[in-house]
Amino acid sequence: MKQRSLGTARTAVSALGLGCMGMSEFYGESDDSQSLATLTRALALGVNFFDTADTYGFGHNESLLGRFIAQGGAARRAQVVVATKFGIVRAPGQYERRIDNSDAYIRSACDASLQRLGVDCIDLYYCHRRNPDVPIEAMMASLAALVRAGKVRQIGLSEASADTLRKACAVHPVAAVQSEYSLWSREPEGGMLQACSELGTSFVAYSPLGRAFLTGTVSSATLADNDFRKHNPRFSGAAEASNRERVEALRGIADGLGMTNAQLALAWLLAKHPHVVPIPGTRRIAYLEQNVAAAAHDPPSTEQVAQLDALFDPARVAGTRYTDAGMAGIE
Ligand SMILES: NC(=O)c1ccc[n+]([C@@H]2O[C@H](COP(=O)([O-])OP(=O)(O)OC[C@H]3O[C@@H](n4cnc5c(N)ncnc54)[C@H](OP(=O)(O)O)[C@@H]3O)[C@@H](O)[C@H]2O)c1
Repeated sequence: MKQRSLGTARTAVSALGLGCMGMSEFYGESDDSQSLATLTRALALGVNFFDTADTYGFGHNESLLGRFIAQGGAARRAQVVVATKFGIVRAPGQYERRIDNSDAYIRSACDASLQRLGVDCIDLYYCHRRNPDVPIEAMMASLAALVRAGKVRQIGLSEASADTLRKACAVHPVAAVQSEYSLWSREPEGGMLQACSELGTSFVAYSPLGRAFLTGTVSSATLADNDFRKHNPRFSGAAEASNRERVEALRGIADGLGMTNAQLALAWLLAKHPHVVPIPGTRRIAYLEQNVAAAAHDPPSTEQVAQLDALFDPARVAGTRYTDAGMAGIE
């Protein structure tokens, strides 16, 4: 697997990471043994960058990753780059959230994550969502104290604005910004990618497959009732039908290049910028292997990238990427 570097410390990570969220929550039922097998296969294929958060499955996701790391002992711990997040607080079983960026919360959340992950230090610790009541400088000071204490190696922000990133970097380097970025979610192109380039911050693209919609393999009619996507505006009604037309056109282009939709969606992201690291999520070895192969594929040409840009021009994508409840803390 090709590598990319993270932040000014230039930590080597695989060009594609693995998003672990779906192994615990949001995308229907999961099976821990299948998820552990997928994690093991990922590492064997050269994927070393694993993404989780304390809120995914209310701790289950971090504990699962902790089991995976423990199974391989110290050698595995040294191989993996663990990224986790704090800041979204939910009542068990609820989607609605409150955002906490207070110093006391950050310190206790970090200790709880370290314990669940079974590690001494979190390689990359993100603020999952911003609470504007806590100035960014104060929150960065809390995180810098965790770095000094040896509990966190590098700091990240998720769904923060370019302005927040600049203020944060004045306090302490920010290794990565993680936000939604894919063919159908192009907000980072409005200044964030440029800010990351200037500041030496990597950009981690989450939901790079549009939560599977871009792959053309899911439809709202077949999703389980407890699947988060069932209530996502882009997967609903007329918006879904309109978005599906774009995905069918994507399939035509991907077929012509000998790729799957998923592979072309990932190759497009990798071609966009050398500091972009997509983290596709999957619980299945077959999907994982298909996605990993995208990094070895010839990158799409400038003309092909432009064609895809136009196909998924934001004005042609129907529906918002979150419900109102999901927009809490997004800058
Ligand atoms: N910072 C944030 O606020 C935030 C928000 C959302 C997600 N994330 C992170 O980003 C990661 C990735 O995002 P995501 O999981 O939301 O969305 P995604 O990566 O765009 O899509 C994941 C979905 O695509 C399916 N899939 C994966 N590869 C496929 C392939 N080759 N063909 C067909 N389907 C495929 C998966 O199926 P199976 O699972 O059934 O295999 C899963 O349903 C998450 O795991 C999480 O770590 C962060």
